Amino acid sequence: MSAANQIAPKKVTTYSFGEMKQRGEKIAMLTSYDYSMARIVDGAGIDAILVGDSASNVMAGFDTTLPITLDQMIYHAQSVKRAVSRALVVVDLPFGTYQGNSKLALASAIRIMKETGADAIKIEGGEEILESVERILSAGIPIMGHLGLTPQSIHKFGTYTVRAKEEAEAEKLVKDAHILEKAGCFAVVLEKIPAALATRVTKELSIPTIGIGAGNGTDGQVLVAHDMLGITNGFSPRFLRRYLHLYDDISNAISSYVDDVKNVDFPNEKEQY
Ligand code: KIV
Repeated sequence: MSAANQIAPKKVTTYSFGEMKQRGEKIAMLTSYDYSMARIVDGAGIDAILVGDSASNVMAGFDTTLPITLDQMIYHAQSVKRAVSRALVVVDLPFGTYQGNSKLALASAIRIMKETGADAIKIEGGEEILESVERILSAGIPIMGHLGLTPQSIHKFGTYTVRAKEEAEAEKLVKDAHILEKAGCFAVVLEKIPAALATRVTKELSIPTIGIGAGNGTDGQVLVAHDMLGITNGFSPRFLRRYLHLYDDISNAISSYVDDVKNVDFPNEKEQY
């Protein structure tokens, strides 16, 4: 029996996230943006599903996460929620729906929770978004923070390379992580930062850290499902482990279908009425 089959079908909650950290159980998280993928991911025993604004890249083909709208995120999250029975579902607030305006932030978070039935929201940033964090939390909406490489700020960074390698940025990240914990966030994503820094933050915080490109010292890991399944290609950061190469497999299957149709091999006698 696979490890996934042995997992009790008990619904994962923000509370169980904390319990998992306490008992040293690693948290496994993947993205999903649609019903069919979320059904497979949830059924395979994932702890948490992120309806990430990476949908902007993966689903819509944009270069950055900035263009995706709140309405589009809600559409993706509703599709995912219909498929999920066990995993915790976390939804990204997209760019422009929470920065610099805590009232807008609360309104955006309420729309996500009300219209999708998600369990929590995720937002990028530390001290600079504290007012939004506090206002959303005051409405009883759980928040997963996101520090390190924060793709919604790509135009400020100018590059997707590793963050917080220099001491000043590393110290700001540690401070921000404590600010998010103190405010009441239930977890924090650490993206593309040195493993030693992620391990330090993980040890200092009592809430779980979920790493992506942050080494194995975090309390959990998150990957974009389309990346680890090899559906996307031409994107090979060091941190990405590809478990399948579906781009090639799907492409080969489609070429075979085209050949079969052209050669009048499909459908055969058994495939017709
Ligand atoms: O949108 C996303 O997929 C994310 C993960 C990379 C953490 O934020």
